Amino acid sequence: MRGKILQQLKEMPEVSGEYISRCLGISRAAVGKHIQALRKEGYEIKAAPQRGYSLINTPNKPLPREILSFFPSEEDKELFKNIYYLPEVDSTNIYLRRLAEEGAPEFTAVFAEEQTAGRGRLARAWHSPKGVSLFFSLLFRPPLSPMLAQTITLTSAVAVSEGLEELGFDCRIKWPNDIFLNGKKICGILSEMRSDPDTVKWQVVGIGLNINNSAFPPYLEELATSLKIEGQNEISRPKAAAVLLRALREEYQILCRQGFEPIRQKWLKKAWLMNQRAYVSLADGKKIPGITRGMSPEGYLLLENDNGAITPIPSGDLLF
Ligand code: BTN
Repeated sequence: MRGKILQQLKEMPEVSGEYISRCLGISRAAVGKHIQALRKEGYEIKAAPQRGYSLINTPNKPLPREILSFFPSEEDKELFKNIYYLPEVDSTNIYLRRLAEEGAPEFTAVFAEEQTAGRGRLARAWHSPKGVSLFFSLLFRPPLSPMLAQTITLTSAVAVSEGLEELGFDCRIKWPNDIFLNGKKICGILSEMRSDPDTVKWQVVGIGLNINNSAFPPYLEELATSLKIEGQNEISRPKAAAVLLRALREEYQILCRQGFEPIRQKWLKKAWLMNQRAYVSLADGKKIPGITRGMSPEGYLLLENDNGAITPIPSGDLLF
């Protein structure tokens, strides 16, 4: 019902309570309650006596109905009908993992305004301030062997960088899936899954994108940036969410239908710091030096040592 009222408010500059109540077959009091509830969600609605309601501003929040309003195709509206919005959560990944275990369908997405225990790769914390970034997790049930699960994460990095390009930002991917803009990190991806020996049961891809942050705490100042800092303008978070979800859906379908090779090609085009001297820090703390030489067909980093031998590295942190 609230969606329908909002639609009328978006279509007309001014609409009377009586008109809404007649069109939707509800009492004037019920209209008033819905208007109050919409205001609580952040919609700015002016009420002029004897004239009616006007919508002054929509909230810059990733509310499901606002995200859906940015999908041009009915197909995407249908596919993404399970979007959750939480004002606060420990971590959207943890929340969605639970839904995945309970049988939630593919493309279920969870957005949060604030995370109290946002998590990054390698057990790091993820800076998750209220109201400015996008924190969300998306559920896949890929028809892949667990050995290839890494390709979903790399595919997501390609999708995010393509989505950001659509929004006007030319980003680069640092292996395996960090997104950088002008030399600073703008987005991180944390992917988690459950599988049996042959199949992936579910894979949750969690994305943290810095959007309207004006500043970062001192320990991140040199490392992180936001779309607003780089582009000078406030960005619509529901629009960014819709663009990213659509890009994630598109690239995922390419992966499922055509395999990893077309994605790998796109990844390489967007890759940052290739053919450069670097070292890879492994989970056990070991550091392997070498020259970055692209990515193997399975998504492993190819690292050339001083003797010219190339080692494929499945996971780690690329450092310079
Ligand atoms: C990284 O270390 O670069 C990955 C960061 C991933 C952060 C996102 S925010 C949404 C989702 N929920 C989490 O707790 N983490 C991911």
